[in-house]
Amino acid sequence: NIQPTKPPLKILLCSPRGFCAGVVRAIDAVERALAKYGAPVFVRHEIVHNRYVVEALKAKGAVFVEELEEIPDTEAPVIFSAHGVAKSVSAAAAERTLLAIDATCPLVTKVHREAEIHHKRGRRVLLVGHAGHPEVVGTMGQLPEGAVVLVESVEDVAKLQLEDESNLSYVTQTTLSLDDSREVIEALTARFPSIVGPHKEDICYATTNRQAAVRLVAPKVDAMIVVGSPNSSNSQRLREVAERSGAPAQLVQGRSEIDWEIFHKIGALGITAGASAPEVLVEEIMDAFAERYEISVETVSAADENVSFPLPRELRAIA
Ligand code: F3S
Repeated sequence: NIQPTKPPLKILLCSPRGFCAGVVRAIDAVERALAKYGAPVFVRHEIVHNRYVVEALKAKGAVFVEELEEIPDTEAPVIFSAHGVAKSVSAAAAERTLLAIDATCPLVTKVHREAEIHHKRGRRVLLVGHAGHPEVVGTMGQLPEGAVVLVESVEDVAKLQLEDESNLSYVTQTTLSLDDSREVIEALTARFPSIVGPHKEDICYATTNRQAAVRLVAPKVDAMIVVGSPNSSNSQRLREVAERSGAPAQLVQGRSEIDWEIFHKIGALGITAGASAPEVLVEEIMDAFAERYEISVETVSAADENVSFPLPRELRAIA
């Protein structure tokens, strides 16, 4: 009765990985709202970019919509996702007297306020980010139409044609690759030496720390798995950082998506998870590997995190 022996696999778990404080707060906000107001609770856009999280909240009575027009006239609350919304969205909710609860991550709100201050001081605002991402749509929507110019790449910087080059500023998306954004910002400051930027980077602590952990782990492993959704910006960036640091990497939403072509016959595997990916999915991935390999697990830490944000005001009162 001899069991076939499984080959050994060393797993290096990136730390920190997974949920950031903004995601925890946004999910808590939906759960608290369900407890306080009862179902349904409307949520505009995926509260965080993770199918597993969204499905779990749906099962509890959250109703996800892309636009406010999809919501009937109701006394039920509508929660804005962690990515933030344009001012026109808050205004439309107020117009319809919907009970709006804003779960925008405070670190995204901080960027919104920076953009506003630049605009008030008469500076043209450039936003470094990815077109179409809801955070970018929300940040651009803090200022009147056309006031914010989106810059996605170094090539975009070269192509910029601005009437007044003397009074410029920039802000960035919070979940960019640190390397890419550095290149774009260098190109901006080279072309427009007087451009005004943030005091401290707009890329958030969670993005920074998760990328730093991947940079530590990737050179030590044969391949990496990033747990996260394809529409999650920070998860996509983790995959890019892993590949740039020398490890083939796959972004997966769960164990069924693992491409075993990449992960057979490896001796060391790195695992991380995007800021919106729950830890149960990491465990599920480890279980899948444990079925094929004799695994040993080690954690590689790039930073300690103890950040948390208070809930939106409307939801703080209940214990
Ligand atoms: Fe906020 Fe950064 Fe998370 S901006 S939602 S803490 S990834």
